[in-house]
Amino acid sequence: MIKFLDIYKQDKRLHKKILSDLNKTFIKGDFILGNDVKKFEKNFAKFCNSKFAIGCANGTDALTIALKSLNLKKNSEVIIPAMTYCSTAFSVLNANLKPVLVDTDFLSSTIDIDKIKKKITKKTKVIMPVHLYGSVTNISKIKKLINNKNIFIIDDCAQAHGASDDKGKKVGSIADISTFSLYPGKNLGAYGDAGVITTNSNVINKKIRKIRNLGSEKKFIHDTIGFNSRLDTIQAIILNHKLKNLKKLNQKRKKIAKKYDKFIFNKKIRKIRYSKNCIYHQYVILTKYRSKLIKMFKQKKIQYGFHYPYPIHKLKVFKNYFKAQKFKNSEILAKEGISLPIDPNLSNKEVSIIINTINKL
Ligand SMILES: Cc1ncc(COP(=O)(O)O)c(C=O)c1O
Repeated sequence: MIKFLDIYKQDKRLHKKILSDLNKTFIKGDFILGNDVKKFEKNFAKFCNSKFAIGCANGTDALTIALKSLNLKKNSEVIIPAMTYCSTAFSVLNANLKPVLVDTDFLSSTIDIDKIKKKITKKTKVIMPVHLYGSVTNISKIKKLINNKNIFIIDDCAQAHGASDDKGKKVGSIADISTFSLYPGKNLGAYGDAGVITTNSNVINKKIRKIRNLGSEKKFIHDTIGFNSRLDTIQAIILNHKLKNLKKLNQKRKKIAKKYDKFIFNKKIRKIRYSKNCIYHQYVILTKYRSKLIKMFKQKKIQYGFHYPYPIHKLKVFKNYFKAQKFKNSEILAKEGISLPIDPNLSNKEVSIIINTINKL
């Protein structure tokens, strides 16, 4: 079996150290916002070249809390890409705001910046690009487009831990607020749900810290309506160990991606354009012959995935919400996209089997 992702294999060398630290916490008992949470926040901020990092319960909450921290008027508009995980859209609605969809760029996984302009209205308060598959949206171009108008940029970095923009600036430091999921399967994943938010603004940092802790900075003093969305100390211990390996594992992913780029060669396959410093959370190819390729993968025991089979406007829950809107490029990604195994520890032989199978389609 060629595994899509093998978390056990990625982490097994860390298990002994993790268990030893967990044991210390079992004795100490600082399970809520303990010292290791502070340590992780410091380490992650440094990793992203950002001033502040705030741990929270998951990537969906990270987005919702980021939006809430801006105190926007009800139904203010938030521009998001039509192809992303449901959470990007749900967070907007859960913050009492209105999602406005923009298509992805042709043969790319990120928002078409040239199409954003037409969707900006007086009500637009946030643009929320998603660095989907680890491919980085050109945030500088979005900044130029909004030209210091009162519009915030929150980038959804759930799939881009350790990626950089084309100028080499780390994701997590290039927008007003950046949100990360630390779901187990992410490039940096906990052993359960977890998330983190970064920002360079101390005002936003303070607001977010309060919102994630039931609106409170000091015990029993609640001056804001908040969420119970704290990062567990136990998850922070695991994340502190795993963060040390992230750069190396991202490099391994890049190597595999370069092989896919170079050696997949078949007229029935279209490749996606990834950004220069992408960290390949997913490596997705497009084919009109997806069912046939799936059959071949099953025969060869190659695992695969879909990211995602439905764009936002086609999700059942949004059947009436986005009415007759069409987003052609996002629909192609959903219909023709198939995610190849991208476990950093895939062997050369396994990568060759995957490539040869695809080339025989
Ligand atoms: C792009 C994107 N945004 C948000 C999320 C939500 O993160 P979580 O599952 O940690 O809530 C995910 C997770 O899959 C994601 O991929």
